[in-house]
Amino acid sequence: MRLIETAHALLKKHLNTGDKAIDGTLGRGQDTLLLAQIVGPTGAVIGFDIQAAAIEATSTLLHTHHCAAWVQLFQKNHATLDETLPVGWKGHTAAAIFNLGYLPGGNPEVITETHTTLIALNSALEALKSSGLLISMLYPGHPGGDIEATAAKAWMESLPPSLYTYHNQLGQPSQNSSKKSPELHWLIKL
Ligand SMILES: C[S@@+](CC[C@H](N)C(=O)[O-])C[C@H]1O[C@@H](n2cnc3c(N)ncnc32)[C@H](O)[C@@H]1O
Repeated sequence: MRLIETAHALLKKHLNTGDKAIDGTLGRGQDTLLLAQIVGPTGAVIGFDIQAAAIEATSTLLHTHHCAAWVQLFQKNHATLDETLPVGWKGHTAAAIFNLGYLPGGNPEVITETHTTLIALNSALEALKSSGLLISMLYPGHPGGDIEATAAKAWMESLPPSLYTYHNQLGQPSQNSSKKSPELHWLIKL
């Protein structure tokens, strides 16, 4: 299974109608759309991206699929997640996804950065309820991505196994390139 397919299968398994979910990196909105479709109008989704193009692309996608009403989009750094989290979400969020890196088709120099990524991942973890899921898709193949991926992995591995289970799936190395493959990592709060 491709990494993104595994990520989406995990979301389908852990999220239900009426749940609360977070997308830490909207991009073109594919992950947000899935979150919105699963939780439905009785649930709620919040999403972050620093780029207007990502907010616009996601908003258009959600409107096309009639899911925009229960999704709030923030053109903000995901490091502000904790202060942006709606009242009642801390400890009650069913899933969060961080598909890191840069906007596909956008400026590859605007990337997620280690320091703010770690702040955001921590806040998302705190927002989860018991059995909640935190997904991070890491891209060590682009400049800056390697350091971020190493730090994110070290953070996940450092969490107490009595409180969280940690899993990963590594992408297949490409035969035509020496670039490091993407990696999918996820935590489940016990
Ligand atoms: C790989 S894309 C996300 C893909 C997306 N989830 C999808 O389904 O299309 C990464 C996104 O992270 C955004 N980003 C970069 N730094 C960020 C930050 N500090 N806070 C929030 N978003 C950020 C980029 O603008 C980019 O749109």
